[in-house]
Amino acid sequence: MVPWPRRAAPSSLPGPGSPEAWARRATASQTEPGLLRLDVPPEQGESATVNWQDYESEGVQAIAGSATAEELDAARVQYLGRKGDLAQALRGVRDRESGMLLNGVRSRLEAAIAERREAIEREELETLYADRSFDVTLPGEEFRRGRLHLLTQIKREIEDIFLGMGYEVYEGDEVTDTWHNFDALTTDHGHPSRSPSDTFYFSDDVLLRTHTSPDQIRLMESRQPPIYAISPGRVYRRDTPDATHSPTFLQVESLVVDRGITLADLKGAVLHFFRQLFGPQREVRMRTSYFPFTEPSVEFDVTCFLCNSEGCPVCKYSGWIEMGGAGWVDPEVFRNVGYDPEVWAGFAFGLGIERIAMLRHGLPDLRLFWDNDLRVLSQF
Ligand code: DAH
Repeated sequence: MVPWPRRAAPSSLPGPGSPEAWARRATASQTEPGLLRLDVPPEQGESATVNWQDYESEGVQAIAGSATAEELDAARVQYLGRKGDLAQALRGVRDRESGMLLNGVRSRLEAAIAERREAIEREELETLYADRSFDVTLPGEEFRRGRLHLLTQIKREIEDIFLGMGYEVYEGDEVTDTWHNFDALTTDHGHPSRSPSDTFYFSDDVLLRTHTSPDQIRLMESRQPPIYAISPGRVYRRDTPDATHSPTFLQVESLVVDRGITLADLKGAVLHFFRQLFGPQREVRMRTSYFPFTEPSVEFDVTCFLCNSEGCPVCKYSGWIEMGGAGWVDPEVFRNVGYDPEVWAGFAFGLGIERIAMLRHGLPDLRLFWDNDLRVLSQF
């Protein structure tokens, strides 16, 4: 099939303006399908005749031959662009036949471009993955998450339980004086805990608290009853570290002051606490004891949560585990803070936080908490 020869445009073609403003006229060839003559403005001096089958196959070749998105775009501009022959011819179409012919060429070229574009994008991705020295299927770098220390977790668990009972959490000072640590708690001068061989003194009067009980005094000195509070914190004693002793450890103190408080309230509070902490089957028992600041004083035990009281090495086959000291607040303590013991009554208790962690997780040595060995600590 031979394209029609180019020839001069007829001077009678209409329209003012620049040569680009002249619409190209396209008329379908009556005799040879696929051949179409384009009339161009007279300023350009000639009209073009395009063989649309050749146009299409050249276009398809250019599209198939473009290796990059840029080359493909150049081919698209050339064969389908606004100023390309096809667009110009389409603009001048007057009859149905040429319209169908040109639109057919256009849609096939568009389809070829879409197909090639998809292939190019795929090839580009493949070369990108092949070029890069990383393997996109490898797992990412692990983001190491920190965690709260086991003792902090337990301390917060205890706080949550008591907050749930409407108690407040109070934080006292670790450096205190003999009044708050001993005298106000009616600990007499002969008590062994006052000895400098047991307690860290800064001066005759200032020391590192040996228990959280001075927080009872601070709480009461700072307000009027009722008081429902716990006070967790660090305490210090002059002990040589071993598996069960440490010069510093954590305690949690509790103080309740209100009208008509009895030891039954103490037992109820402790029972609820241990059931929350160790499971709903737990029971509590109280044994008589002595503390300077409570009268009567007790020590309280909880049923063994490891063997369910069947007997195991942790509860020494007794079914019970010792948890702490408690009692009914001594009226003398109330007098020391200016409360009237005829009006107010209260209970207090104190227990060790490390002990809870050791029992719960079967940790054999107190020092594991402070060695900061991540192999141990990251287990919790
Ligand atoms: N402070 C005591 C100790 O460190 C524990 C204690 C006993 C606290 C009886 C109390 C209590 O509040 O009422 O051994």
